[in-house]
Amino acid sequence: MQIPAVILVGGEGTRLRPLTARTPKPMLPLVDRPLLAFTFEHLRRHGVVRATLSCGYLPTQIREHFGDDADGLALEYCAEDEPLGTGGAIGFAARGIIGSFFALNGDSLRGADLGRLVEFHRDRGAKATILLTPVADPTRYGLVRLRPDGRVASFLEKPRPEEIDTDLINAGVYVLEPEVLEHVPPARAVSIEREVFPRLVEEESLYGLALPGYWLDIGTPESYLAAHRDILERNFPTEVGERLGRDYTYVDPSAEVSADAHLVPPVYVGAGAVIEAGVRVGSLAVIGSGAHVGAGSVVEHAVVQARARVGRDCSITRSFVGEDAELGDGTIVRGLSVIGPGARVGAGNRIDGGLRIAADAVVPPEALSFP
Ligand code: GTP
Repeated sequence: MQIPAVILVGGEGTRLRPLTARTPKPMLPLVDRPLLAFTFEHLRRHGVVRATLSCGYLPTQIREHFGDDADGLALEYCAEDEPLGTGGAIGFAARGIIGSFFALNGDSLRGADLGRLVEFHRDRGAKATILLTPVADPTRYGLVRLRPDGRVASFLEKPRPEEIDTDLINAGVYVLEPEVLEHVPPARAVSIEREVFPRLVEEESLYGLALPGYWLDIGTPESYLAAHRDILERNFPTEVGERLGRDYTYVDPSAEVSADAHLVPPVYVGAGAVIEAGVRVGSLAVIGSGAHVGAGSVVEHAVVQARARVGRDCSITRSFVGEDAELGDGTIVRGLSVIGPGARVGAGNRIDGGLRIAADAVVPPEALSFP
């Protein structure tokens, strides 16, 4: 499919702070590679060969990592001086594109058939078509109401339970015609969802199509953890998921895992990681490359990112330890808490209830405890 793509990767990822303090959200690791690599894989699978990355926050890391080609997907970069919002960013990055193009958020996992989306868009002669996805709990999202012919009738933001008559939400992938950009005023932040799409609804030129396939938007620690789970459990099929094999366990050949450690699948242990005696890792755990887990510790349904050092007899559940962070002996981290990259947490701390320790923070021993 010779349709180019504009991928939005410029957001600050505030809900994932402090993990995004020095890494833009699309570059956060997801099992063995940056999250953005899964978007590239999806686009390539549907024949897209050219993409422009619309960067803003921390743009150089993305370019330095991927360069101008991601396994056959040619990449160009465009960086805003000031955040332009989703609409402004698409307008800025899509200058010069002639004909239909995809615009998509770079922070989701998706499996939908993009070819079918384009076919529908062309059949209807749409100016813009939104990929929609059904969700189990519609109260948490903005909903999209369709007419029988597939045109968007209206958007329903934060509906009350009695108003809900659809379970479809915007999955963050659009097929757009360049005319749509006429609705994007220059030189200020513009939201495509809140400003541009409502104008297209008035014009009756906006369509939506619900397609089957996996979808997960990664925005919060909870959804980021769910993304790890779905890759490890192969609910979202990926090459790394395949590598876990029939026993759902991958240990990089360069990792050192004590014969006395217990790996509970699904589990992934990255290159050069060290797992000492008496440790239990898993289920649903990822130990990043070069990370170190000290004797007697437990890491369950949690992620220890690259080069982090977990002391002895620690317990990490449903939480993240950011890269290069250090946890002193006997530390407990649980309840969707996040230890920022480079933070140093002294021995005996107890971190719970979604607490977030800032990047590079220093927490003295036994300073924090939950009730
Ligand atoms: P939060 O701050 O946690 O809401 O995360 P976010 O900044 O990533 O915002 P959100 O998840 O709503 O953004 C959806 C997509 O649009 C993501 O892929 C962002 O990278 C991208 N995005 C959001 N705002 C901008 C912007 O001003 N410029 C560009 N280029 N991309 C943006």
